[in-house]
Amino acid sequence: MDPVNLRRRIASTPLAPVAAFPKRLLRVARHDARVLRTSARWLFTSREHHNYTYDLTRLSREHLAWFVSVTCDTPVKQVKGYLSELEGDDALRRHIEEATAASARRGLADKRVRFARRLGWYAIVRSRRPAHIVETGVDKGLGTCVLAAALLRNADEGAPGRVTSLDINPEAGYLAKVAPWSDVVDLVVGDSIASIEALDRPVDLFLHDSDHSVAHERREFEAIEPKLASGAMLLTDNVMVTNVLAEHAARTGRKFLAYRETPRDHWFPGDGIGLAW
Ligand SMILES: C[S@@+](CC[C@H](N)C(=O)[O-])C[C@H]1O[C@@H](n2cnc3c(N)ncnc32)[C@H](O)[C@@H]1O
Repeated sequence: MDPVNLRRRIASTPLAPVAAFPKRLLRVARHDARVLRTSARWLFTSREHHNYTYDLTRLSREHLAWFVSVTCDTPVKQVKGYLSELEGDDALRRHIEEATAASARRGLADKRVRFARRLGWYAIVRSRRPAHIVETGVDKGLGTCVLAAALLRNADEGAPGRVTSLDINPEAGYLAKVAPWSDVVDLVVGDSIASIEALDRPVDLFLHDSDHSVAHERREFEAIEPKLASGAMLLTDNVMVTNVLAEHAARTGRKFLAYRETPRDHWFPGDGIGLAW
């Protein structure tokens, strides 16, 4: 019997899993070895212990461009231009490198600047030109700087805006305290729910990136609702973990889409962008 026919015969017998075992073992071993190699390299070359940074794979960057294009109704060529604009922003990159090197937390931060899915945040702000963004959860201020950089470019083109960034940690946001980025940033210290309730200007774009528990994320979206300008966009950084924004979109009659990022050369499986509009 020729090998093809033999394989077909075996496939329909109880021997099939045994026969396929070596091939399956090789596949999973190759995959796990790659993850182990990447993890070992990261352990000795990175200093980060949370809120990891990395570049996206080429394909993931391409998918991100299409995600922003569809959700923001902007030609994909224009969106790709926005991604390149942020990647080529040498002044911002230099500032982040220098502020990181000078910060008290430099021992827990990497020198290289990598924006990951924040490239998408940038392109969304460039496409939508919001007058007022609210970001909950600031950490070092990397995302805040990215949002501020987009707002500064919008202002150059006649569409000024500001970002209100909320964090419970008074030490958060050190990257966003230097001009010109700080010129468009209002850092607010306190629990995000109380800070949202105190907002006195309509919000065009809201980004949840603080306490990622289901209860807190849900409370943020409920609290921001009466503060939103008409046609506002809602984003979550927690979309790979909870379904809170999708459920909120269904309750409030919005559309919802999620983008899942793929990090390049990193063990972390990646986060994503959840978007309701
Ligand atoms: C994932 S980090 C934010 C990352 C940041 N957006 C960025 O782009 O790198 C989460 C931040 O949320 C803050 N946080 C946690 N609970 C909070 C709360 N109840 N209210 C406000 N901020 C909170 C933490 O102090 C931390 O700085």
